[in-house]
Amino acid sequence: MSNIGIFYGSSSGVTGKVAEKLAELLGEDRCDLYNMEEDFVDFDDMLKYDHLLFGCSTWGSGEVQNDWRDPLLDLDNEKPDFSGKTIALFGAGDYKAHGEQFVSALGVLYDKFKARGATLVGAFPTDGYTYEYSFAVRDEKFVGLPFDKINEAGKTKERLERWVAILKEEFLPAGE
Ligand SMILES: Cc1cc2nc3c(=O)[nH]c(=O)nc-3n(C[C@H](O)[C@H](O)[C@H](O)COP(=O)(O)O)c2cc1C
Repeated sequence: MSNIGIFYGSSSGVTGKVAEKLAELLGEDRCDLYNMEEDFVDFDDMLKYDHLLFGCSTWGSGEVQNDWRDPLLDLDNEKPDFSGKTIALFGAGDYKAHGEQFVSALGVLYDKFKARGATLVGAFPTDGYTYEYSFAVRDEKFVGLPFDKINEAGKTKERLERWVAILKEEFLPAGE
């Protein structure tokens, strides 16, 4: 039975590709993939899982990808209870054109779901990244996994593998 829900919003497919790769690395038989644009109906879709991966690229200037916007407004209004849920975040950005808000959407999701009682895991070291500012950096680490296909496509595979090793410690159900 699937026990991990992967929900992602991705305008040009970069975060979507990483979502698929994550399912492959964690085991496709236990991951359900939801594209926020087509598959997300309401928070009951998420609350079916105790373990959630949320993917969101950054647009505008530090804003969440379009398909996350309405769900986050609904989150504020409906206030669903995410206590007991473990969430890890990942998302694409562009450090050269948008280094002033690099992958900041991850910080937005972090605050929103933490406020709903979730446990956020999967923080990632900032070393090896270049940026001016990121709302996704807390306690000197990114709150999830950032990647940049536009400028650093060659680094994504290694970053992903490093993050999956962290998830195996912090995220996966005990004993798996
Ligand atoms: C208009 C525009 C605004 C953007 N704003 C940001 C930003 O604030 N921070 C950032 O890190 N990347 C920003 N980006 C870069 C996107 O996040 C990047 O293209 C990413 O690969 C898109 O991923 P997706 O296909 O999963 O949506 C922006 C891109 C565009 C075209």
